[in-house]
Amino acid sequence: MVFLYKADPQRGKRWAELFAAKAPDIDFHIWPGAADPNKIRYLAVWEPPARIAEMFPNLEILFSIAAGVDKIDFSALPAGLPVVRMIEPGLVAGMVEYVLWAVLGLHRDTPTYRRFQNERLWKPLPLSPAGARRVGVLGLGELGRAVLKQLNALGFQTSGWSRSLHDIEGTICFGGREQLPAFLAHCDILVCLLPLTTETKGLIDKDFLACLPRGAALVHVGRGQQLVQKDLLNALDSGHLSEAVLDVTEPEPLPDSDPLWDHPRVTLTPHIASMTQPDSAVEVVLQNIRRFHAGEPMTGLVEKARGY
Ligand code: GLV
Repeated sequence: MVFLYKADPQRGKRWAELFAAKAPDIDFHIWPGAADPNKIRYLAVWEPPARIAEMFPNLEILFSIAAGVDKIDFSALPAGLPVVRMIEPGLVAGMVEYVLWAVLGLHRDTPTYRRFQNERLWKPLPLSPAGARRVGVLGLGELGRAVLKQLNALGFQTSGWSRSLHDIEGTICFGGREQLPAFLAHCDILVCLLPLTTETKGLIDKDFLACLPRGAALVHVGRGQQLVQKDLLNALDSGHLSEAVLDVTEPEPLPDSDPLWDHPRVTLTPHIASMTQPDSAVEVVLQNIRRFHAGEPMTGLVEKARGY
């Protein structure tokens, strides 16, 4: 029984140690590995290899090393092959930290004070309490709900939007496309945590941004292709949007010539908002393998028709 890992080889070394300690019956290999392809039952990928079905005829589970599965072309996979995305406590905690960092920074005017500092300007601005700030989260899966819990604990007014209506204590929930404009109108700070699907590609465009209140800020931790960059730049330049904190761009890495690099109202990070943590991730992967063989539901099983 072979587990093949095809992602960052450095972190793969920790995966190998953990598999050796916790699942000695599973033969763990880092891509490309020397194992007989017929023996590969489990494959964990960030970017999957081409022709998976032909390469690994006995594959039983395809694991995504990431929360997102947008690099995986479901149409190229055997219909019955389960795809499991990464939902593990380390990845969730990292995302909560990043979003809190970004939201608190925006809430406390960090980008403005940075500009003041550059000008040697000592200028206190009025301080609003968290309870006066409306923070909206797009995407109410594991990550969105974990983020909302902490935003609520800090006292922000929160709302959430998802394609179907959810019920979250302390958060006003909106569901479906028809409620999107009403949700956006409620957001002083908007956090995008949506997966990339055909429905969310290009979603954040000028019509979408126009629904936000004037002076709103965007924290984008979904996928670069969800954002129409020229519409974002126009909204920032016109003052309709005050700030954008972007962890994802299209393409990645962002080319040298891209105007986002030195836009005064853009804070950029290189897709580091969160990362799968080997210690907690291997635990979840091994549990999922056990569940699969026991006929129990796996955590993070992807609904292929839905795209996540
Ligand atoms: C990172 O972008 C992930 O999908 O986990």
